Amino acid sequence: MSKNSIATPGRNVVVVGTQWGDEGKGKLVDWLTESAQGVVRFQGGHNAGHTLVINGVKTALHLIPSGIMRAGVKCYVGNGVVLSVGKLFEEIAGLEKAGVEVRSRLRVSEACPLILPFHAAIDIAREAAKVKAGTEKIGTTGRGIGPAYEDKIARRALRVQDLKYPERFAAKLRELLALHNHVLTTWLHSADMAWDEKLALYMKDGEIQFDPVYNEAMAQAELLKPMIADVSRELNDANQAGANLLFEGAQGTLLDIDHGTYPFVTSSNCVAGNAAAGSGVGPGMLHYVLGITKAYCTRVGGGPFPTELEWEKEGTPGWHMATVGAEKGVTTGRSRRCGWFDAALLKRSAQVNGLSGLCITKLDVLDGLSELKLCTGYELDGEIIDILPMGAEDIARCTPVYETLPGWSETSVGATRYEQLPLNAQRYLTRIQETTGVPIHVVSTSPDRDHTILLKHPFQA
Ligand code: GDP
Ligand code: IMO
Ligand code: MG
Repeated sequence: MSKNSIATPGRNVVVVGTQWGDEGKGKLVDWLTESAQGVVRFQGGHNAGHTLVINGVKTALHLIPSGIMRAGVKCYVGNGVVLSVGKLFEEIAGLEKAGVEVRSRLRVSEACPLILPFHAAIDIAREAAKVKAGTEKIGTTGRGIGPAYEDKIARRALRVQDLKYPERFAAKLRELLALHNHVLTTWLHSADMAWDEKLALYMKDGEIQFDPVYNEAMAQAELLKPMIADVSRELNDANQAGANLLFEGAQGTLLDIDHGTYPFVTSSNCVAGNAAAGSGVGPGMLHYVLGITKAYCTRVGGGPFPTELEWEKEGTPGWHMATVGAEKGVTTGRSRRCGWFDAALLKRSAQVNGLSGLCITKLDVLDGLSELKLCTGYELDGEIIDILPMGAEDIARCTPVYETLPGWSETSVGATRYEQLPLNAQRYLTRIQETTGVPIHVVSTSPDRDHTILLKHPFQA
């Protein structure tokens, strides 16, 4: 390029989950990374669990963007992510053991709030207190996500940049410990709780101790320093120079702190708009939003789920989804609740994300079901509504309205062209498109990277 020539800026795509997480975002981000030079996480933390299957080999990721398996691609952890540095290094070690080079390609925002051991302790103790009080627990991942975001919003969080200054770090840590240990011991009765081995290492009489937290953080700081970056600047520069960027959402729209089934949600904005705020780029840089959508619905943890099915009874459609779909969480190993596809929920998702297109995943899991139900709306207070209402209480009172479609007995596993899909599977997809009002641009037919049907390319749409 000559000195005066101006590069054409790259094209950028946002990938979000449109249901309650685990839609298959990781698989699709890995697949789409073929067309990207940078992949960015912009919210959540190691509550996420993304599974990639490449040539039959499985990789589980929690914090590192799902673009890491493509050589040469840069991966960014944006300011919107709450970061456990210990978990990040565990993940790096796992990838390095598998021969994946990470450190030279990973950039971590200096503005990420840190997740520290007291965050996980508070998260776990609060859930235990709910059980004790007989109230429904949220069913969090116990990773300290909520308490870490609370510190961020309260403007007292320790951030990645504090790791570079030991005295500053120590002073802020002391303040945080004074507050959180007070809450832990007096409000959450932490001294009477049984703690897992890892957390017990930091604890004495229910209080998190300064020395182990500080010493560990300072040791981690030395390793992290080469990766700490002004991610906002780097993303803008890379994009200006022509790099295509892929923004990888974690969790799902119905787990969004504002738009989800509140209070049974996570503590960040999972919607596409946060790709900008959570990484430091302008909203005008987000050109296309791909909504990853399971061909049915699943949810882990508590909270309302209008189309939920009985999934433990052998032979039922819910059991079929849970077993054929191997619906077990990657992060906590919990069983995922299963239910019919919900187009009224998708309408809410389409609207709050500004979806450009859908990617339907796990269509193959429905092979062999004789009929399928699709929820088009709900009955609430004697009226029929066509979109999911806001908040857990109203959602819990909704009775789904279904239409029934014929299933198919042929296999769709591994299909890579639309015409290979059973006719009734094609009809099901058409109906999803009609009832949600969003075009289907991609279909996934197995966990494998290559088993994907492309109808319209998000980077070229
Ligand atoms: P994420 O959190 O959205 O990245 O999704 P997870 O990785 O937690 O869960 C999705 C699961 O479904 C993983 O085990 C994937 O390997 C698997 N998966 C993804 N796409 C497909 C598909 O089209 N068919 C089948 N059978 N499994 C899929
Ligand atoms: P990925 O990125 C599914 C759920 C938890 C709980 C609620 C709050 O793999 O799709 P938290 O620990 O975040 O405070 O828990 O959110 N949850 C997820 N469910 N997939 C996820 O991530 C999730 N991350 C959090 O089960 O109900
Ligand atoms: Mg997941």
